[in-house]
Amino acid sequence: MDSALVEILKKSRRVLVLTGAGASAESGIPTFRDQLTGLWEKFDAAELANDEAFQRDPALVWGWYEWRRALVMRSKPNPAHLALAELAKHQPELVLVTQNVDDLHERAGSPSVLHLHGELLKPRCEKCARPYRFPLGIPEMPVEGARIDPPRCPECLWNIRPGVVWFGESLPGDAWNAAVDAASRCDLFLCVGTSARVQPAASLGMRAGKAGAVTVQVNPNPTDFDEEVEFCVRAPAGVALPQMVGAMVALNPR
Ligand code: OAD
Repeated sequence: MDSALVEILKKSRRVLVLTGAGASAESGIPTFRDQLTGLWEKFDAAELANDEAFQRDPALVWGWYEWRRALVMRSKPNPAHLALAELAKHQPELVLVTQNVDDLHERAGSPSVLHLHGELLKPRCEKCARPYRFPLGIPEMPVEGARIDPPRCPECLWNIRPGVVWFGESLPGDAWNAAVDAASRCDLFLCVGTSARVQPAASLGMRAGKAGAVTVQVNPNPTDFDEEVEFCVRAPAGVALPQMVGAMVALNPR
């Protein structure tokens, strides 16, 4: 690791981490835009990830999210998730923001996670927004592309919808406001495994940089953020983060 970066990591106290699909890639969860393996290479977002699609064909959309939920529930946190959970023990001011809809940060032990794009495991009624509880246990793995009728809200009988933010929808206000606030106050902005293509999440790095934070990106591939960021760590998150967190916690004993 770059020795200048190591010095910065050691000094950082107010850290904001933004994770994207690449942070869960080593847990076996596909990203969206990686060539060949990305979900949006294989599936049409216009048919699956907006409210019009759900109104048109609820079983197709619900079936796809059930397939993703089954995949997530069979996966485990990887060393990147575990390293960030360890960092939280040493840096109480750490703010962890994710675009991911899985629960791998939580399962790794991160005490507080701001989910900008919602959560697969927290569906709700499309009409009254009442939360829906999935039956306990790991669901059967649906066949890719399987149509599954969504359950009905026990209260108003409308469809239950996935708990994720779809294209055209606003981000959850509390999570977004807290992320913007953290971007204006952090001294280190660490961007992990995101293509930085989706707004407004991608704007957090620029906000943090303008407010004076050192900006660092962990990604094995080039991204739109390369031009703006001060340090690019070109490595998989599961390799880079344990090393980076190791440098950070050495001087931050509990
Ligand atoms: P993308 O699929 O756009 O980007 C994933 C990034 O992870 C790419 O830049 C890869 O190079 C990188 N990557 C792959 N493997 C990695 C690894 N092992 N370690 C680190 N990086 C790795 O995913 P996001 O940027 O998260 O939105 O996508 C943002 C949003 O677009 C998602 O939240 C989703 C999608 O449409 C919604 O569903 C609303």
